[in-house]
Amino acid sequence: MSVESTIPAPAASGSEPPLVGGGAPLIGHAWHLIRDPLGFLTALRDHGDLVRIRLGPKTAYAVCDPELVGQMLKSPEYIVGGPLWDTLEVLLGKGVATSNGKLHRRQRRMMQPAFRPERIADYAKVMEEEARATAARWDHGRTVDISAEMFRTAVRIVSRSLLEVESIGEKADRIADSLHTVFEGLYRRMILSVGPLYRVPTQGNRRFQNALDDLHALVDEIITERRANDSGQQDLLAEMLRARDETGQPLGDQEVHDHVVSLVVAGAENVASTLAWTFQLLTEHPEQERRLVEEVNSVAPGREITFADLKNLPHTRNVVTEAMRIRPAAWIFTRRSVAETNLGGYRIPADADIVYSVYAMQRDPRSFERHLEFDPDRWNPERAGDVPEFAMMPFSVGNRKCPGDHFSLAELAIILATVAPRWHLSPVPETDTGTKIGITLHPKRLVLRAERR
Ligand code: HEM
Repeated sequence: MSVESTIPAPAASGSEPPLVGGGAPLIGHAWHLIRDPLGFLTALRDHGDLVRIRLGPKTAYAVCDPELVGQMLKSPEYIVGGPLWDTLEVLLGKGVATSNGKLHRRQRRMMQPAFRPERIADYAKVMEEEARATAARWDHGRTVDISAEMFRTAVRIVSRSLLEVESIGEKADRIADSLHTVFEGLYRRMILSVGPLYRVPTQGNRRFQNALDDLHALVDEIITERRANDSGQQDLLAEMLRARDETGQPLGDQEVHDHVVSLVVAGAENVASTLAWTFQLLTEHPEQERRLVEEVNSVAPGREITFADLKNLPHTRNVVTEAMRIRPAAWIFTRRSVAETNLGGYRIPADADIVYSVYAMQRDPRSFERHLEFDPDRWNPERAGDVPEFAMMPFSVGNRKCPGDHFSLAELAIILATVAPRWHLSPVPETDTGTKIGITLHPKRLVLRAERR
């Protein structure tokens, strides 16, 4: 399919997209999204490039064609909204990830300097330290909970780099536990947004609420600690505490709180999940693991890897990219149309909920040869050009593109290149490599035996 313009036609001409059959009474396709979301979203492309599905009483529009998704993400006719973002607001409040319009532009402007590529070399020192500390913590022959370890490392890196909070070590495990519970609960609330159902004091609802309260309390502790120890830091938190709006007023406590939640959540969850998947994929592909270790050892023989080495580690970077393709952490996204509009020749009404899945797009055989194969070499320059535009977008495109993309790529490669040459990781009987569904995707139980190389 070819799309001529990145801005959709203003007139809302066109027909309704086809309605996908097979919805259950009352809850519609929400049933499939709870039972087998990945299979359901993947199969939608067989019904068309843009289709209608029913989520409870609501109709949602699912975009399955990468070019149409790209077109939508670059168009001002669609804003951040819809089931994912409405649900995430419970957690993220009105931070940069959930706001729109003027507020979003102001928040994004404030955040941008902290993510300039030239700042990454400074953050890389923290990344190197934390990666080495992680690799030094394990014992030969013992099993390691890789998901928990990666989460802890990612929370420490984002908090030390952008928020300069030293005491984060004690808090990281609590943040990880609470966030897991919250993300699981949020997924159900997103698919079936029936408010009263979640106010019933069941064990599950109470666990969700306690985890959410704990997370917010932790973030308040971080901000209080920082206000008490302000020693002229130059980080993003300092920037937020110094920022003034157009009337000269500082950001309200709630706004600072919401920003910090967004950063810790966005900065830790996606990175930790990507690393967990990458280590799992390496256990399943020993040849790729061998090549990665050889590459790192040849670039940094007998010494620790540093940020400056990353440019000489093409295979390591390809492994990270391919892991993000086949096992994306953030996998389902939503938007809302601001006015009646047209996408791919179909009419979309105003205020419509739109859904798309990068998991489905990045495993589409129309875009990727041997689409289910873990093949890092597909990202070598001579082959990468074959991938159609927008078919691979783990960091999204348009005005909501992840500001942490360079930060993440450096972090992922540094951790991988520090840990893998030191430890050979292999599954044990308790390892469960199935997929745990939440707002992000995780391996179910990634405990691996660590053996020193
Ligand atoms: C593997 C790691 C990561 C992945 C795959 C990832 C992915 C994404 C994606 C896909 C979006 C856009 C969501 C949308 O279009 O609806 C996003 C937004 C965002 N990400 Fe990341 N991210 C990662 C790491 C990070 C890190 C490390 C940070 C910060 C330290 C971060 C901060 C943010 C923020 C603040 C937004 C909201 C931007 C906005 O709405 O303007 N992310 N991320």
